[in-house]
Amino acid sequence: MPRGIFITLEGGEGAGKSTNVAFVRNWLEHAGRKVVVTREPGGTELGERVRDILLHGRELHTSAESEMLLMFAARAEHIARVIRPALDAGKIVLCDRFTDATYAYQGGGRGIPAARIAAIESWVQGDLRPDLTLLFDVPVEAGRRRAGLRSEPDRFEQESDEFFARVHATYLARAAREPERMRVIDASQSLEKVEQQLGSVLQEVVGGR
Ligand code: TMP
Repeated sequence: MPRGIFITLEGGEGAGKSTNVAFVRNWLEHAGRKVVVTREPGGTELGERVRDILLHGRELHTSAESEMLLMFAARAEHIARVIRPALDAGKIVLCDRFTDATYAYQGGGRGIPAARIAAIESWVQGDLRPDLTLLFDVPVEAGRRRAGLRSEPDRFEQESDEFFARVHATYLARAAREPERMRVIDASQSLEKVEQQLGSVLQEVVGGR
């Protein structure tokens, strides 16, 4: 059985990742693939509890370092229990955020050096990296406006405009360095146009339709 395909979705706040997960999943299922949809932080019981601490534990003090280590603790469990088994079974894993988010938020946003993140990435993930990353890109201000229309802001959504400008710049710099893996989707366009972009990337990378 060939190894499955590991696809991640990334982007700043309000970039429309969640809206488009369903489209990507349907596209892949129509291409005859078995798809596991999951998210980070999350995807396991431990991961969901860590998510709750990091996004909603307002009364808890969390340093940048402990925040990063908790992201990776959740990730280690997620990889062992969900991601690797699904890939080994030949499935497509569709994961809403992964380690690019750690580089963007804890690295760009909070200032942890990329080399330190890279060391833990290798330790936790071995050679596991996404085969394809869809980066949903919208100008920071527009994304924050969209996100602000939703429910109560979580701990990250309360960060400053400068924080999100650094997150955004880090994502784009990573995409520029790895253009084959990371495909930038212009998410400021209409839903129909976004779906067209997604369809053409998926046809090129996954094929089968
Ligand atoms: P979201 O899934 O609704 O986008 O929320 C997840 C939040 O967690 C988002 O603000 C980005 C943040 N995050 C990190 O800061 N580092 C990470 O490694 C991951 C996976 C997410």
